[in-house]
Amino acid sequence: MSTATKDLSYIEELVAQYPEHKGGTLTIMQKIQEREGCLSPEALDELARCSGVSVNELYGVATFYSFYKFSPPGKHTIQVCLGTACHVRGGAKILAELERLLGIKVGEVTADGKFGLVRIACLGCCALEPVIAIDGKFYPRVSVRQLPSILAAYQDQ
Ligand code: FES
Repeated sequence: MSTATKDLSYIEELVAQYPEHKGGTLTIMQKIQEREGCLSPEALDELARCSGVSVNELYGVATFYSFYKFSPPGKHTIQVCLGTACHVRGGAKILAELERLLGIKVGEVTADGKFGLVRIACLGCCALEPVIAIDGKFYPRVSVRQLPSILAAYQDQ
């Protein structure tokens, strides 16, 4: 994402459109994320300035909901299921190995913006445990050994 100063004037317009304190703030943050892909520090600063709600309070509200992101999404989103069925079958090991291979922690995006790593409570196919999904494509009964070749398939995409 460009580091050039962004035009955040639309946030002031959103605050005028949704003046209610808490409910309005949630809606505005949702609209910022739809537009920018995440809630950047600059956007939250601007929302705090325009709304009078402190940055700390905005972060407090946003971090309560897993929906809100604080960095731009990766080009490819890797979802690792850590629901009960997948956890019992080694989901945590899969996640730890992906963190090691990618050099990021869950919730982060690689420096080149290629991969984002998120944890999911259940991907809805518990019989295929442990399972991960990349951009919606499922990898059932995945093993630690398979991960490098799975990631390699996305390197040039
Ligand atoms: S627990 Fe992993 S898909 Fe349901």
